[in-house]
Amino acid sequence: MDVDLIQVVNRLQETFTAIGGDSVDLPQCVVVGAQSSGKSSVLETIVGKDFLPRGSGIVTRRPLVLQLVHTPVSAEQQRPRKLQSNGDEGEDALLGSNGSGSRTPTYGEYGEFLHLDKRFTDFGEIRREIENETFRVAGQNKGVSKLPIHLKIFSPNVLNLTLVDLPGLTKIPVGDQPSDIERQIRSLVTDYISKPNCIILAISPANVDLANSDSLKLARTVDPQGRRTIGVLTKLDLMDQGTHALDILTGRVYPLKLGFIGVVNRSQQDINGNVSMLVARRAEEEFFRTHPAYRNIAHRCGTKYLAKTLNQVLMNHIRDKLPDMKARLNTLMGQTQQELSSFGDTAFLGDQHRGSLVLKLMTQFARDFVASIDGTSFDISTKE
Ligand code: GDP
Ligand code: NA
Ligand code: MG
Repeated sequence: MDVDLIQVVNRLQETFTAIGGDSVDLPQCVVVGAQSSGKSSVLETIVGKDFLPRGSGIVTRRPLVLQLVHTPVSAEQQRPRKLQSNGDEGEDALLGSNGSGSRTPTYGEYGEFLHLDKRFTDFGEIRREIENETFRVAGQNKGVSKLPIHLKIFSPNVLNLTLVDLPGLTKIPVGDQPSDIERQIRSLVTDYISKPNCIILAISPANVDLANSDSLKLARTVDPQGRRTIGVLTKLDLMDQGTHALDILTGRVYPLKLGFIGVVNRSQQDINGNVSMLVARRAEEEFFRTHPAYRNIAHRCGTKYLAKTLNQVLMNHIRDKLPDMKARLNTLMGQTQQELSSFGDTAFLGDQHRGSLVLKLMTQFARDFVASIDGTSFDISTKE
């Protein structure tokens, strides 16, 4: 069953805000991998926008805590959305259906940094600000800082979700880096991925032997069962002629419950030539569809499938939390209903208006949402 995750989370948040409770906490997604393995590229394609500094060598030198914040759609943008999606829209990027990565933002999308009192509507400018702020704190010469940059992206098309981009795991100090840089970055990364609520996107470049994958080694220390680690194999286009990674992608090499997903991100040449996200994604699809080793598993490869998998993982997380939330709601609904009947016919006036509104929201929630997710319904009868 495909349910539109953005819609589900909005519903939950609406309902729990109205009754003054906490909503479900979605897990943070954190990318881990060696320097230049493609972490920032992967994160960017998941969000579906061009806005992160990428390149060869050490580019990400401070953690970037990226908080996606859902904002209501304005009236003129409003279009009907079904709760039951046909699986064809909104699944390919967590930042909505705008997979084009165009530099002109969709109306109503903007970014804000914690360190600056300014609203950014140009995502190229967001990238420049990340670069400036990296230089300001981590210096000009390859230094790394633990101090995170906090960026919020507001959009009608996003989930309320936090993604974290991190400096790459490295071995040999360069530039201003201290002699124990390897240990420092490992400890920085471990701080983020050890939280049990964190989903680890463990990035490994396909053109390096998986046995040397730093991301998998580190992920294993905090997630030994491989329950919350998604393996992401980048740079499949750069493997030696005649070699392929089919064994890894089909799970025969390294056990991860959530599996391995192969992707092809934009090359440095693509980035320099301003190849758009849409064009890059089409090329990626073509790559898997026509590759002799991958064409049979093409439907389980690529950025789109990665975003879909991530959505599924988040949905399962919500499903796990549902029994708790249902119990809380059932109690609250019972209480509210009792209060309302004691008010009698005046229940829809004055102070009591809030009560009836809450009941209405909860009723909607119970009927449309919970039932659609787990097939059970509330046993309470409600009057409207
Ligand atoms: P990070 O250091 O792990 O964040 O890696 P980046 O995302 O900055 O990417 C490092 C370099 O590798 C950039 O020049 C990217 O264009 C390139 N790159 C990343 N993924 C791929 C890929 O799948 N294929 C190719 N050809 N290049 C890639
Ligand atoms: Na890099
Ligand atoms: Mg990076």
